[in-house]
Amino acid sequence: MDKLIIHGGQRLEGTVRISGAKNAALALIPAALLAPGKNLITNTPKIKDVKTMSRLLEAMGAHCMFEGENLLIDSSGVNSFEAPYEHVKQMRASINVLGPLLARFGEARVSLPGGCAFGPRPVDLHLKGFEKLGAEITIENGYIHAVAKELKGNRIHFDISSVGATENVLTAAVKAKGTTIMTNAAMEPEVTALAEMLVKMGAKIDGIGTTTLTIEGVDELHPVEFANIPDRIEAATFLIAAAMSRGDVMLENVYPGHLDAVIAKMEEAGVQLDIQENRIRVKMDGIPNPTDITTAVYPGFPTDVQAQWIAFMLCTNGASKITDTIYHTRFHHVPELQRLGAHIEMAENSAIVFGGHPLTGATVMSSDLRASASLLISALIAEGRSEVLRVYHIDRGYEEIEKKFSQLGAKIERVKTEEF
Ligand code: EPZ
Repeated sequence: MDKLIIHGGQRLEGTVRISGAKNAALALIPAALLAPGKNLITNTPKIKDVKTMSRLLEAMGAHCMFEGENLLIDSSGVNSFEAPYEHVKQMRASINVLGPLLARFGEARVSLPGGCAFGPRPVDLHLKGFEKLGAEITIENGYIHAVAKELKGNRIHFDISSVGATENVLTAAVKAKGTTIMTNAAMEPEVTALAEMLVKMGAKIDGIGTTTLTIEGVDELHPVEFANIPDRIEAATFLIAAAMSRGDVMLENVYPGHLDAVIAKMEEAGVQLDIQENRIRVKMDGIPNPTDITTAVYPGFPTDVQAQWIAFMLCTNGASKITDTIYHTRFHHVPELQRLGAHIEMAENSAIVFGGHPLTGATVMSSDLRASASLLISALIAEGRSEVLRVYHIDRGYEEIEKKFSQLGAKIERVKTEEF
């Protein structure tokens, strides 16, 4: 078990390179199951969730190996359509293998994913989509068992916009006979990246980047090399951390077009942003303006940046309202931030953040990936020493986070601990 020891108060300055997108990689890697042979996904982050997904594919007979920042996935040897509980319990996104297995083998047995720190995380939209494509779904002994002698195209409307359900059903629809029209599909950049990789493999998809995807099924898909997109959530985390420290930081390997909502809100808060083609320079002098946000599906303000925004609003001199409409209980970071001296009141799925109260160092506990990030960036500006426990949550989604912050001037180190 590791923990991070942080001495707050350092101004962040310099350049940081943003890694490839975790949430895109967790859709692109399973899709390699659709194209037997050597697939290469470049700009893949070396993070725990990618290792977990790679191990799951290897348990099915694939071979996954990093070559520098590129992940080679040889899916020719896949000989099983089962995703065992011991893998799926580690990461909900494991369910993304269901669509590709169904399309390749006509059958899949995938353990039902559990919940997570901020909610039940149902998969009903995934299963309804597969049934629409002609699969028979049964749930037995904690496993989803899907069988489809032949997948047939159909019209599929998602009651609510779901990133995972859109990705999973799309990877089955690309090999379904005939036409599939998916409406109210998610249009997050990670979904678009998956659709673009499938097209490169030989799939026929129209409407990419919109909420209506039209797919003409094909018989075969071929292995490809595909460039993963930069991680917009990691980028937002570093933009906010730099502004909180009143620093001056250049982010490299970012797509500003994936960050419109975050950029707009940061400018509303008074942050100076110099937007370039694949770099963003962030500077902050003085005190940020209190700025309300409400999370929404893309291109709205991302729920994955909600916790970090609460941390940022602690630096203002006024009150801000942060509402999460995607996950109503994704606020486990609030009591931990209060340990650092934050004044926050909860009202249903909103946090009212009162700035003007300087933070002081404390020991805090990570509960989930983005909550941990908000604790870390708050500790970076808290006066004195802080410890962030259960760093394995952060390692799921951020590559070498303490090295990246150290290079920007933060006083942060990782130590082994028996503490849990
Ligand atoms: C993806 O999760 C991301 N994870 C999450 O990022 C992100 O918070 C989420 O999308 C929303 O943007 C990955 O891409 C691996 P959803 P996903 O299906 O696909 C409900 C992070 O920190 N829903 O878009 O699981 C669901 O409960 C992680 O990187 C159903 O009701 O999210 C939620 O309220 C955390 N039934 C809403 O839809 C379903 O079948 C959106 O969830 C599926 C989802």
